Amino acid sequence: MKLEQTFTHFLLRHQEEHGRSYNFLLLMEAVMTAAKYIQHYYHTGSLKNLLGATGDTNVQGERVMTMDAVANEIVLHYLRQSHQVVHAVSEEEREPVLMNPAGRYYVYFDPLDGSSNIRHNLPVGFLFAVAKCNLKGDEDHHLRPGREFRAAGIFLIPTGVFTLALADAGVWRSSMDETMTWVRPERLILPEDRADWELSFNSSNRRTFSERVQGWLDRQEPQHAFRYMGALAGDFHRLLTNGGMFLYPAIVNHPDPKKNRPQGKLRLLYEAAVVAFLAHEAGGAAVDEQGRDILDLTPTDPHQRTALYVGSREMVEDMRACLRG
Ligand code: AHG
Ligand code: MN
Ligand code: MN
Repeated sequence: MKLEQTFTHFLLRHQEEHGRSYNFLLLMEAVMTAAKYIQHYYHTGSLKNLLGATGDTNVQGERVMTMDAVANEIVLHYLRQSHQVVHAVSEEEREPVLMNPAGRYYVYFDPLDGSSNIRHNLPVGFLFAVAKCNLKGDEDHHLRPGREFRAAGIFLIPTGVFTLALADAGVWRSSMDETMTWVRPERLILPEDRADWELSFNSSNRRTFSERVQGWLDRQEPQHAFRYMGALAGDFHRLLTNGGMFLYPAIVNHPDPKKNRPQGKLRLLYEAAVVAFLAHEAGGAAVDEQGRDILDLTPTDPHQRTALYVGSREMVEDMRACLRG
């Protein structure tokens, strides 16, 4: 019989060793419980008719799938119950949700990332990030740059793998066992060996990218494998293991100019900054279309979008130089 270290125990030790409060553990207990319930509903979704659309559109004007709404409800419930959260910012809620004014954290989340995979039961994700209140002075401020996150993570669903980055303490990946407990935390560092590096982007958008980005791809693409799952959670998940770069550039050359997206598609707070924080803690980097560090961008709107280039530091720096011409 081989008994494993649980991820919760690992977190407890980490908080103790760093002289930190247990509040973060109460919050993580809520986040991990929510992830288990999302996983459960996703597993059984096709039998319960949960894998279709609700008929509504969200703040982004996108079709809301039943699972988007179910996952959002689950996360809000457990965050509220934890009593640790001041505001929660969800992809599915127009305004930040006020939970407990005396709480300690701001939580940003995409309850279900990769909606186009839902009806195929293919991998989706639950992305989240945590910032801490300024316990001493006045502040609003749920609109924080990723640099101020204390943690960020991805649950890959239904795969059951959980990856968590802790501020200044690295990235840790853990797998779900048969009792739905996350066990065997292992540290992840982006590999330096270029042999495994991959490129991940929606290739059908390629001719809509700026000439600079298209030129970069023409030069780099022959040297790397190409992988695209259509869910940032899944695509970034494999990138963290193999290295390379995930990109969702600004769309600036669409044949129908109304379909250009100069701001990019992905949302800064609960998508781009989450993976940027994970990449940074694993030794990598992330920049936007202007070559600015994603972690330095302070959002002015909870649902602000950004272009995203994230992955192995050397490759992202090469792209940054190209973007800045
Ligand atoms: P969401 O399902 O939360 O709206 O996010 C979808 C995002 C992201 O997961 C993915 O990387 C990207 O959309 C895929 O976009 P394309 O279909 O344009 O490639
Ligand atoms: Mn998403
Ligand atoms: Mn989503």
